[in-house]
Amino acid sequence: MTHSRVPRRRRFLVCEPRHFAVQYAINPWMHPDTRVDVDLAQDQWQTLIRAYRAHGHAVETVEPVPGLPDMVFAANSAVVVGGRVFGSLFHAPERRPESTHYDTWFRSAGYDVHRPEAVCEGEGDLVWTGRYVLAGTGFRTTREAHREVQEFFGHPVIGLTLVDPYFYHLDTALFVLDDGDENNIVYYPEAFSAGSRAVLARLYPDAVLATREDAMTFGLNSVSDGRHVFIAPQAEALAARLDSHGYVPVPVDLSEFRKAGGGIKCCTQEIRS
Ligand code: ARG
Repeated sequence: MTHSRVPRRRRFLVCEPRHFAVQYAINPWMHPDTRVDVDLAQDQWQTLIRAYRAHGHAVETVEPVPGLPDMVFAANSAVVVGGRVFGSLFHAPERRPESTHYDTWFRSAGYDVHRPEAVCEGEGDLVWTGRYVLAGTGFRTTREAHREVQEFFGHPVIGLTLVDPYFYHLDTALFVLDDGDENNIVYYPEAFSAGSRAVLARLYPDAVLATREDAMTFGLNSVSDGRHVFIAPQAEALAARLDSHGYVPVPVDLSEFRKAGGGIKCCTQEIRS
């Protein structure tokens, strides 16, 4: 391939899965009788952190809190663009207390945090592309929150309706490959309503399209730095397609987190200065 993709150094916020478990079911992947292997989860998570650092990214951690088993999914706690933090208000009562802990982390790191009035789950549904915020709704984040996000950031917010309960967060159905000049995304079209699919096709005519199989392996829950794509190793077909587009797949296995309906991106909050 002749493309030379240029990575940009990222700053990530993550939360160790010390108290990770499946204790309630708020998406179709979760079954409360599932036993989670916390040691395996910790090993897999550490591998992700090492991979980020090995590729030059800065990783900071928020302290996990007992009794908040989903707190490992750092992406849901906020969306940060231009050094401004738009916090979260979880749909599920079980997850609501997570927001305060993340807000505290951001405040002690010197940020103001906007506390949303409407239900919204951070980067789970609010994806900064470099130009707009793509904003999912249908299962978690509400339309009211989309309006609030647009007022807060002053960036265009493009609402997209999710229709498949397996892809309940936007970041399970779509990720940004490049948030720079060659602004481009990968997505699984069938996760979206017909109108939303048409919007994505207009905005991103050159997007990489993914299959249901790619999506079911959490291949769309990937993190790209503009060159390297941290991706589930099970998403082989998608990784091969990304390779042919000049990206470098970096496989990291977070299979234990699938029991909670999460993957690489769910575990990763990006702090954009
Ligand atoms: N169990 C969590 C939930 O359903 C998983 C969150 C996954 N995070 C994400 N960014 N998609 O809320």
